[in-house]
Amino acid sequence: MLANRNVRQIALGGALVLLTFGSHLGAAMTEPLPIGAALSQTSNVALLGQEQIIGVRLAEEYFNSKGGVGGTKIQVILEDSAGDEASAINAFNALIRKNVVAIVGPTLSQQAFAADPLADKAKVPVLGPSNTAKGIPQIGPFVTRVSAPVAIVAPHALEAALKRNPQLKNVAVLYAQNDAFNTSESMTFQEAVKADKRLTLGTIQKFQTTDTDFTTQASEVMKVKPDLVIISGLAADGGNLVKQLRQLGYKGLIVGGNGLNTPNVFPVCQKYCDGILIAQAYSPEAGDAMNKALVELYQKKHKKMPGQFTAQAFTAVQVIVEALSAIDQKKKVTTYDVKELRQELNKQILGQSFQTALGPISFDKDGEIVQKSFYVAEIKMDADNKNGKFSFLK
Ligand code: ALA
Repeated sequence: MLANRNVRQIALGGALVLLTFGSHLGAAMTEPLPIGAALSQTSNVALLGQEQIIGVRLAEEYFNSKGGVGGTKIQVILEDSAGDEASAINAFNALIRKNVVAIVGPTLSQQAFAADPLADKAKVPVLGPSNTAKGIPQIGPFVTRVSAPVAIVAPHALEAALKRNPQLKNVAVLYAQNDAFNTSESMTFQEAVKADKRLTLGTIQKFQTTDTDFTTQASEVMKVKPDLVIISGLAADGGNLVKQLRQLGYKGLIVGGNGLNTPNVFPVCQKYCDGILIAQAYSPEAGDAMNKALVELYQKKHKKMPGQFTAQAFTAVQVIVEALSAIDQKKKVTTYDVKELRQELNKQILGQSFQTALGPISFDKDGEIVQKSFYVAEIKMDADNKNGKFSFLK
């Protein structure tokens, strides 16, 4: 049933006149309920975005099979946010024009700082599915995230490295300086290293997410003879850096940040990915009911375990669907004007708790995720050096 109040019929002097109201006047909710997703389908960042797209599509399928929002189906409308700020802004504008009720995205924090203010100004709720830089929820009252910030997640990997090698002393840190999240994550790692009396920060090396040759940085790292290297980069650059560092002879522990937290890094560093330790805001081994549902759905299609990027994107759609369902119980969401519904939805998201694949979550007053469980996994490559898995540490 399409209740389109965009077009209204008005009888004028016996003649029937059709008046079209622009979206600035608001528009009735359409069915299926449109949920926007601005995720990276192209560029290097698609190594992360592909997994997120799987997550939002699985959520669409799953929640529609459970009746959608009080019997009304949802539809995930996808726009490619690629790898840069301009593409994220274009994707957000396109989704806002399509009258989506909320936006899941964009993939990078770097893009979120550019695109989220537009949605915030238009009062469209944004759920960051993977933005982990400091300051994302503070962009505005309509910005929340399901991706726990680096300051909470990253230190778990350092702890795991120290547990693995209690003699650890000398640490080298490398990060992509042209990217907001990698800079933010590296600062967290650097502070954690400096705060630990057992550790010395031997060198800090910088690179760009677009770099492919890391000879200079890897050589500088080798000079200080570290026994731990911590890398904050995206999957393509970070994976290549790991490979070149190992090829130069580095044998110690490697901690990778959130940008390397994808099986899509395996084809990049191949056998050299083996042993990288990465902190996780999700474990497919956690027993929550929604997690079991996600793992089952994912395995049916992909014959392996879902990763953090998929689980967080799935969760972002779940939060929107469940908050809409709570609203729908009081007043059918299809009777709302889209602008009113977006405002109601934002309030509802901030006030509700959710049982998700990430465990029980809620949001603080800024829209920051409140999450309890974090993990660390180690990459274990298969003998073919192409496939591998994230093996969760006990
Ligand atoms: N966690 C990464 C970011 O925030 C993908 O940009």
